[in-house]
Amino acid sequence: MTGDRKAVVVAIDGPAASGKGTLSRELAARFNLAHLDTGSLYRAVAAKVLAAGQDPKDPIAAEAAARGLQSSDLQRSDLRTPETAQASSIVAGQAKVRAALLDYQRRFAARAPGGVVGAVLDGRDIGTVVCPDADVKLFVTASKETRALRRHKELVERGDKATYDEVLEAMIARDRRDSERATAPLEQADDAHLLDTSELGIEQAVAQAAAIIQRQAFSEG
Ligand code: CDP
Repeated sequence: MTGDRKAVVVAIDGPAASGKGTLSRELAARFNLAHLDTGSLYRAVAAKVLAAGQDPKDPIAAEAAARGLQSSDLQRSDLRTPETAQASSIVAGQAKVRAALLDYQRRFAARAPGGVVGAVLDGRDIGTVVCPDADVKLFVTASKETRALRRHKELVERGDKATYDEVLEAMIARDRRDSERATAPLEQADDAHLLDTSELGIEQAVAQAAAIIQRQAFSEG
């Protein structure tokens, strides 16, 4: 029965620092699913462009970085810096960059590595573009103040000196760029469940999301 079961795909989208990453990792562990943080692909493209002294707005440079992406690029130490975050949403606005990364994401979803039962992918366009037929779609959000607080804490823990106001401002700019772009903008799929984590701790958020996944993807009949 388990051997020929179709891969379960869980699509998790939402704005910056909404808690998608932590939630996705926890859910993947709970349901024995592989996890792909698709934001790390765009961050890696951006980090490579910046490290080469190129402009993230340069479509030739950005597309070349996306086409040449290696799995080792996903381990770079500069993926989570504020500079990489901003540049990632600039490269992500370019249709050719998105096209170059699409197949990898779809293949991951269709045949998750490592003998697991399926995959959780988190990002901005998973439920709308990458996996429109996902078994379960969640759109995770939180107030912008909550998200900025979480991101500020994360950056400070990494030794970054950014102030809360700088983090808030940068996050608003990035969300706007992600929501207003022409190709695969950040938006809630019609069939996605909205999960607002403003007032939820991680355990509560995981419990709510897990109940939805259990009901929708794992209940027999
Ligand atoms: O961790 P955080 O939510 O701040 O961002 P992320 O998920 O690592 O994504 C970084 C950037 O990659 C986003 O601001 C988007 O511009 C882009 N991205 C995207 O366009 N599509 C995705 N599926 C995932 C990320």
